Amino acid sequence: MMRIGIMTGGGDCPGLNAVIRAIVRKGDAVYGDEFIGFLDSWDGVMAQRFIELPASAVRGLLPRGGTILGTRRGSPYDSKDGVQEVQKCFSEQRLDALIVIGGNGSLTVSSLLFAETHLPIVGVPKTIDNDVFGTELSFGFHTAVQIATDAIDRLHTTAESHDRVMVVELMGRDTGWIAVYAGLAGGATVILIPEEPFDIAEVCAEVASRHQGGRFASIVVVAEGAQPIVGTMTPIDYATDHLGRPRYGGVCVGIAEEIEKRTGFEARVVQIGHVQRGGTPTAFDRILCTRFGLAAVDAVHEGAFGYMVSLDATKISRVPLSDVVGKIRTVDLEFFHEIGDVFFG
Ligand code: F6P
Repeated sequence: MMRIGIMTGGGDCPGLNAVIRAIVRKGDAVYGDEFIGFLDSWDGVMAQRFIELPASAVRGLLPRGGTILGTRRGSPYDSKDGVQEVQKCFSEQRLDALIVIGGNGSLTVSSLLFAETHLPIVGVPKTIDNDVFGTELSFGFHTAVQIATDAIDRLHTTAESHDRVMVVELMGRDTGWIAVYAGLAGGATVILIPEEPFDIAEVCAEVASRHQGGRFASIVVVAEGAQPIVGTMTPIDYATDHLGRPRYGGVCVGIAEEIEKRTGFEARVVQIGHVQRGGTPTAFDRILCTRFGLAAVDAVHEGAFGYMVSLDATKISRVPLSDVVGKIRTVDLEFFHEIGDVFFG
């Protein structure tokens, strides 16, 4: 029997509650564990703000979006005493382990904490962006792709009715995973991703050649972090968040303006934004979350601290957190072009 803390960190993501449920259900049934859930990420750990999580508290959580624990983007390293407060929480709450369900930010903090203090931490990879290194998939990605694909499907019919170009901006930070999967699944004309800076002249030529071929509607999918090749178009100067990272959003606007100006075709922008992160996880994500949650509890009981559970060729595995942080998992360009080059335009 162990006393285990759970926290969710970073941006919310479909499936967070499903992971919490799986952790608690297995810990309770198999190991007789006791769980507490920290509120609002590291803020809750540092301030020892938490709720008890008996098995009855996770009833009905499998399909529920968001996180019952709340989430924030802060870190114990943002304040002078943050790390000591985390250590104090472990000892005062008699924690045997902490399971951190988070993306690159929370996993980096976990890795640093583990390296510095050896606190017993296990990570679970979360993010719709799918950019966590060391796992084939993070949970939430599949759901975001489905939501974005549904949106693209709907945009086809309205674009065709009005002979318009729809420029659809999707999330993903510095990687184009959501744009690639949703764009390919939704039959986009062009997909622009951060991994390959784009030439707006080529985008316009692609759209124009479709029109010459008698197809007067196009869907241009752009990942929020996509950038023009230097010197081809004015890049956006993004404001930064409290961690100094660009706060993306709006790249679709300049692209649509350029398409209208250069081709004369009417172009509209669509930002589905946080809809990609909201609501119930897909069936696939519910299963992945459940597998990750079960594996996280096993990792705790096997003393695999400083590790993150991961997906490796359909099998659940573990990787050291230190191998995960400081890198991002970018789109496999061979895969992207193998499919995309046949269908673009
Ligand atoms: O990391 C998930 C994500 O949704 C990114 O795709 C996006 O850039 C960012 O979070 C948005 O963050 P916020 O919710 O803080 O605006």
